[in-house]
Amino acid sequence: MRLRDTADATAANPAEGMVSREIFSSETIFAQELERVFAPSWAFVGHTSQLAADGDYVLSRVGQESVIVARERGGGINVLLNSCRHRGMPVCRYDAGNASAFTCSYHAWSFDLDGALTGVPRLNEAYHGELDRSQWGLIKARVAIFYGSIWASFDETAPDFETFLGDMAYYVRDLMQSPDGEDDGYEVIGGIVKWRMPCNWKFGAENFTGDHYHNYSHRSVDRLKISLSGKASRHPLAAIQTPFKFLNIAHPGGHTVRANLYEALTDYQSMWGDEPEVDAYFRAAHDKRQKRLGDRARLITRGGVVFPNMHYNTGGRTTIGIWVPVSAAETEVWRWLFVPREAPQIVKDTLRHFYLRYGGPAGMTEQDDMENWSAAQRGTSGVTARKFPFNFQLNINEAHRAWPEAWLGADTMVTAGVSEHNQRSFYTRWNELMSA
Ligand code: FES
Ligand SMILES: [Fe+2]
Repeated sequence: MRLRDTADATAANPAEGMVSREIFSSETIFAQELERVFAPSWAFVGHTSQLAADGDYVLSRVGQESVIVARERGGGINVLLNSCRHRGMPVCRYDAGNASAFTCSYHAWSFDLDGALTGVPRLNEAYHGELDRSQWGLIKARVAIFYGSIWASFDETAPDFETFLGDMAYYVRDLMQSPDGEDDGYEVIGGIVKWRMPCNWKFGAENFTGDHYHNYSHRSVDRLKISLSGKASRHPLAAIQTPFKFLNIAHPGGHTVRANLYEALTDYQSMWGDEPEVDAYFRAAHDKRQKRLGDRARLITRGGVVFPNMHYNTGGRTTIGIWVPVSAAETEVWRWLFVPREAPQIVKDTLRHFYLRYGGPAGMTEQDDMENWSAAQRGTSGVTARKFPFNFQLNINEAHRAWPEAWLGADTMVTAGVSEHNQRSFYTRWNELMSA
C-alpha cells in the first residue's frame, strides 16, 4: 500500500470507522489524490442549457485544471483543456461567451471550437510548412451527456460514463428531473457561483454524502424557518408530514445519495408559502410526478455525491457543485443553480431567492457548514492533533437489508436512519484508489 510512503500508514481504515487526519493536511497525499482519485474519475463540467447556441462556451474544471466546454457548429459539445499547446497559456480568458475560435494571447495560435489548431502566425516563412497542425490541437476530453448534464474525462482507460455511475445512474437521472418528473427538465440560471474555503475538499464531500448527524449546527437557521413555506425549519421537505425513512444509499463506486422514502404517496403539501402562482405550479408538478413515476414517487432525494467531488442538493432546491481541489487546505467551490425550464418566471425568481438565502457564500445554511469545515481544518492540522484519527463509527454495525423497492438499485447498500454508512463508503472507495 503506497500510503506507507507517506507519514501515516493508516490513512483511512473505514472498515473500523477510522480515518487519519493526515489525509486532510498532507500535501504529499493531496498530490497523490489528483493522480489516483481525480484523474481516473468522470468530472461534472456543466449543463447543456449553458450552451444554447453554436459557439457558446463556458469554462469549467476537471480536477484542478481549467477546461473549455464549447458547442461547436452543428451542435456537438467538446471539452478542451484550456492550455495552449505552444507554451501552455490558457487560450480562453473569459468565464463564458460565444466564439468562433480561441486565439491564444501569447503568440496567437488559434484553435477551432473542436480544438483543432487552425491558425499559426508565420506558418510558411518560419515553420516552412513543416509544422503538422493536426498533431498540435487542444487536448480533448472524452465527453458524456446524461439527461442534460455534461461530464468529461481525460483518462482514455477509464470505463465509459454509465459504467462509472453504475446504479447511481438512476439517481443522476432523478436529479435532472424537474418537479413534475420530466427528464432533463432543468436549466441553469445566472452564472456559476464560485468561492474559496480554507479547508480540504473532503470535508465538503463527506458532508454531502449523508451527514444527517449535524443538524445541531443549523439550529439557528432552522429557527428562522428560511424555507419559503415559513412553516418548518430551513428545509423545504420539512413541510411534508407523511412518515418516512431517511435512507443512506451507497454505491461501490463511492457515489452516495441521501433520500426520504415516504410510507405512502404524499398529498401535496405547500413547501412554497403564500404565493398562489408558485403554489399552483408546485401542486400541478407534484401530481404529474406521481402519475409519471407511480410508486417510485415515494422517494424524494435530498442530495448526494458523484465520486469524488461532484455534489448536489435536491428535494426542492436543485443545485450541483464541484469541490475544486486547490491544495490540501484550500478548496474552490463552483455551484450551478437550476430552475425548472417550463416553470413561470415567478417560480424561477422564487427559487433563485431561496438558493441565495440557503446556500453559497452568503447562504445562511452553508455559512454554518463552512465555519465548521474551516475551523475543523485548523483543529486537525497541528503536529499533535494530526496523529489521532477521526471517528466514523456512527451505526457501524448496522446491517444492510434487502429492500422491497428493488429500484433502489441492485448494487446499492442502503441503510436507514442517522449513520456514517455513506461516509465510510466514500472513504472505502478513496482508499481503494489511493492504495492501487
Ligand atoms: S503560448 Fe499560445 S501561442 Fe504561444
Ligand atoms: Fe450542513
